[in-house]
Amino acid sequence: MYINFWYPIVRSEDLGYDTPEKARVLGVDFVAFRDQDGNAHVLSDTCTHRGGSLGGAWSGGNAPRIINGCVVCPYHGWEFGGDGECKNVPSIGYGTKVPPRAKVDSYPVQEKYGIVFAFLGDEPEETRPPLLEVEEYGQEGWRANEVITLDVPYHYERSIENGLDPAHNEFVHPTHGFSAVNRETYRVNELEIEDHRQGWGFWFTHRFDAPPLPQKGHQTAKDGDTPWGDAQPERRQVTAASGTYGPHFMATYIHLTDQKMFRQYFFEQIIDEHNTRIFFLNMRNFLLDKKNDGPIHARNKVVAKQDIDILSTLYPERTPLSPTKEVLMPADGGIVAYRSWLEKFDDMGWRIDINEFRRRNNKDTAFAIPCPGRRTSGNWVLEEIPRIKNRAARKKIERAA
Ligand code: FES
Ligand SMILES: [Fe+2]
Repeated sequence: MYINFWYPIVRSEDLGYDTPEKARVLGVDFVAFRDQDGNAHVLSDTCTHRGGSLGGAWSGGNAPRIINGCVVCPYHGWEFGGDGECKNVPSIGYGTKVPPRAKVDSYPVQEKYGIVFAFLGDEPEETRPPLLEVEEYGQEGWRANEVITLDVPYHYERSIENGLDPAHNEFVHPTHGFSAVNRETYRVNELEIEDHRQGWGFWFTHRFDAPPLPQKGHQTAKDGDTPWGDAQPERRQVTAASGTYGPHFMATYIHLTDQKMFRQYFFEQIIDEHNTRIFFLNMRNFLLDKKNDGPIHARNKVVAKQDIDILSTLYPERTPLSPTKEVLMPADGGIVAYRSWLEKFDDMGWRIDINEFRRRNNKDTAFAIPCPGRRTSGNWVLEEIPRIKNRAARKKIERAA
């Protein structure tokens, strides 16, 4: 798990004006809320008074949970602004000066693609990885499905690696692969790997044979049919491209024909070591009518379930630490490329020291992901989440564990 990337916190439509939303990311809790102008804010969820959960259960009856653009702690009513400062402590008298130390971490926010993203880390703006640009979003000729979330009970690296794996389609997704029509000649074509043009990851293209598109009218999501019609009796070549951006974003472009494209984006909220919430954005440049959103989502959910069923059974739950504990093939090239990017993020000092975190978290210590404000001011109440210096230090810790 890494700090210093943009993480999805909550879908825009799920963040109202009256109630804050709590989200766990990287093993710690955050609260998201909107101020009077509708601007979204994301703070560390832990109240600096005595550990109340700012987004937690509310006993305040009909009293507002958000006052003057501040989120109100449900325990003793301290009020925190979007900048993380405590603006009011009712028990010392309304409007009385509040100690500056009462602040909580406040994170940069961008609301895009129907998602509230927060930059979870302290890297200054000039050097931080930008939020991935979905270039076709909002462009003429493209339509975005409403973002859906998928909760999956496994480590995010397993989830990302699955999206980079052209060899599983044949077995996991009946409509994608070659479906064993010619087992003797079947093989996964070579992958061409290059850096992602926005940096922070890589990209590969892959051509494969696929079953014919179904006839119009055969539109049942259940049996794996697709809703996009266009009868083609012969098997056909499809081009797919996949890649990563950061440790937790993945995209797949599926070019059914030269004119018909899906572009799918998986923004993964790393909840903790065992759970991931995938914010899934599906773009398309055909079947643009809104009425196709439903069938396309239904279809995507069938495919997602096929993946979830397999990935929930992998052992161990996350990828093994040593490469000798797996036998990788050329078709796993995307996975190798992903892991080498993770090592680059290790060398930036952005990996959370999970052993240390596990050892102390929630015993007598509450941790926070450091926000950029920690670079310019001191006196923070919560301890920063422990990190590993670089990949050499990581290997040493892992060998000792
Ligand atoms: S714990 Fe939040 S106000 Fe007391
Ligand atoms: Fe899959």
